Amino acid sequence: MKTMPSLLILAILSAFILGCKPKSQPKQQDEETKNKATADSIEHLQKRGKYLVNNVAGCLYCHSERDYASFSGPIVSGTEGMGGQKFDKYFRGVPGEVYSRNITPAGIGSWPTDAVIRAMTQGISQKGDTLYPVMPYAHFGKMSKEDALSIVAYLRTLATINNEVPKRKLQISFHPTIPSVDLEKNLRPAFADRKLYGEYLVNMAACVDCHTPMEKNNLQLNKSFAGGQEFQVHGFVVRSANITPDSITGIGSWTEEVFLAKFTQYRSADGYKYNPGKNNSVMPWTIFAGMDDFDLKSIYAYLRSIKPINNKVIKNPL
Ligand code: HEC
Ligand code: HEC
Repeated sequence: MKTMPSLLILAILSAFILGCKPKSQPKQQDEETKNKATADSIEHLQKRGKYLVNNVAGCLYCHSERDYASFSGPIVSGTEGMGGQKFDKYFRGVPGEVYSRNITPAGIGSWPTDAVIRAMTQGISQKGDTLYPVMPYAHFGKMSKEDALSIVAYLRTLATINNEVPKRKLQISFHPTIPSVDLEKNLRPAFADRKLYGEYLVNMAACVDCHTPMEKNNLQLNKSFAGGQEFQVHGFVVRSANITPDSITGIGSWTEEVFLAKFTQYRSADGYKYNPGKNNSVMPWTIFAGMDDFDLKSIYAYLRSIKPINNKVIKNPL
């Protein structure tokens, strides 16, 4: 006799739990996730593109002039997309001199969208040559078609700047293998899947290209994210940090708050006006600081999940 009522209570209880509990708890996340969901208009594409170009894929930190009199070289206003930034042996061991190209309408305005996407994701320029991989097209080839289209939609809105970029001078003959890319197959993970979405962002921002040590001009991919790559640019030397979750030499002891604050401090110009010229960095803090909190937290979630690697880095050796 006693079992019946308790079973009944159990049934009612579980109906209650199943019916109500899931609603209230993940609601907050649904709300946050929903804020990122969007319509499919050209305005929406341009808005998403503006965000990706300026703050995630970081096209403009390479394709504009940077002001290293301030911390981490914020972009010089009025030079957005005009190209001409030089990359040489002191930046990722480029064998020679490579210059970012003009991606304002003066440079690529006449290119069909497919051609811009081919350059961006496969490194094949409409001008007939292949791009040196300091341009992170191998990473961009993993973005969703919608994100690629949104980037091109936004590039079309940049102010036209006529800027003749110097021809690159490579000391090696250069025949890269062209990555095969099928953007239709690339799906952006659901925003709610923080870790996977974070991985997607980390790929698009090409963090690994700077945060992996190099040997003989090759990234040591077995030490991905372990830092120690050296940059000698604009009169300073800096080495990328270990951003694996190793608790001694990486960021394993950082809480989400600490990680977030490290970026958000550069959202206002006051944050990077200090200490001009000294202990400077090539990490485009002012660019990534503009990522929204949701995305920065997703990046944190992903970085927590990668293999911890013990690699002590002295960031400012001089
Ligand atoms: C780390 C620096 C870097 C980043 C980030 C970067 N680029 Fe580039 N990009 C370059 C360099 C350098 C070249 C020229 C390579 C060469 O000459 O071999 C280039 C070339 C290009 C070209 C070829 C233009 C032409 O006239 O042939 C396009 C298009 C382009 N980039 C678009 C983009 C877009 C869009 C993004 C962001 C989604 C981006 N780039 C991000 C460095 C970068
Ligand atoms: C152009 C090269 C470059 C790119 C791209 C880059 N970083 Fe960095 N990063 C550096 C350098 C160099 C440092 C060390 C100097 C400093 O702290 O600014 C650094 C430092 C950091 C630090 C500080 C760690 C510490 O111990 O203080 C974090 C966190 C970080 N990067 C995360 C990222 C993430 C996440 C991305 C991609 C979204 C990224 N970085 C992309 C070059 C880069």
